[in-house]
Amino acid sequence: MKNRKLINIRLSDDGAAVIIIDQTALPNETKYITLRTAEEMYEAIYSLRVRGAPAIGIFAAYALFVLATQIKTDDYEIFLAEMSKQSKYLNSSRPTAVNLETQLKRMTDMVEGMSNAPVTQIIEAMRAKADDIYNEDVNMCKKISEQGLALIKDGYGIMTQCNAGPLATSKYGTGLGPIILGHERGMKLHAYINETRPLLQGARLTSYELCELGIDCTLICDNMASIVMSEGKIDAVFAGCDRIAANGDVANKIGTSGLAILAKHYGIPFYIFGPSTTIDMNCPTGADIEIELRSPDEIKEMFYAKPMAPKSVSCYNPSFDVTPNALITAIITENGKFQQNL
Ligand code: MRU
Repeated sequence: MKNRKLINIRLSDDGAAVIIIDQTALPNETKYITLRTAEEMYEAIYSLRVRGAPAIGIFAAYALFVLATQIKTDDYEIFLAEMSKQSKYLNSSRPTAVNLETQLKRMTDMVEGMSNAPVTQIIEAMRAKADDIYNEDVNMCKKISEQGLALIKDGYGIMTQCNAGPLATSKYGTGLGPIILGHERGMKLHAYINETRPLLQGARLTSYELCELGIDCTLICDNMASIVMSEGKIDAVFAGCDRIAANGDVANKIGTSGLAILAKHYGIPFYIFGPSTTIDMNCPTGADIEIELRSPDEIKEMFYAKPMAPKSVSCYNPSFDVTPNALITAIITENGKFQQNL
């Protein structure tokens, strides 16, 4: 159970930096990096050194606190203007996961409500708020995992997408939470992990987390999902989410909607797990969710010893897709199971 001890996001002891596990170095190396400047923090989110919707929200809250300590003024208006600028900058690092925006807004809303307080007191309150956001996520993940446990039985085969485990959150995870909790309670479960091209969060991170915990798992390439389902190995698909629209459409890692279509074809329940902080009631449907487009290099060469496609070939690299609500059996949050389709 080694990786239970890993803390993926924390403040340095002097509160002057955020320390994270660099997820791009996993599974080969457990490397902690210390981030002090706004540029380093932006880069860490953009490059997926810290990733997963809840984790980037938690990280951004701590990052904004650290940046606030660097603002050298006692004047509230100057402090607010500078802090809001940093918040906007961090928020522009990735567009799809709503948690980034939500947690930054919770921090800035609090500061806006403290116009009569001294700046030093506001900064202390920001630190406490970031801790609250972290602890709140721990509680939500635990409750989500308990809810998910009620959906599975001993011996289940569960297909996973991307990484929705402890690294992507605070603890336990969302989509992986029930599998981890079930294992802790002695259940025999088997995870089928989609590698999740192009950035391989399934291969690099989900495999790592489950192997470290001693949970039975098998890694497959994304294009093997259909055959594995057709062979009767999968009893349920568990995925996380980056933004849940008001109508129940869900944005998650690219490939998720394809799995939902396959699951429907094979009559397999398809569940989305996420904290209520991932619900965006200002977003009417999945069509209103901005999908992040990323570099062609991720497809052509990033994880290869040498490029695996001609330099001149053009690529389309959407990082997320939207699963329509009609394909989702239920969405599970810390508040319960929202049945969509049986
Ligand atoms: O691009 P990533 O790795 O940040 O994408 C993450 C996902 O799609 C996760 O499934 C989602 O954020 C849920 S994490 C609990």
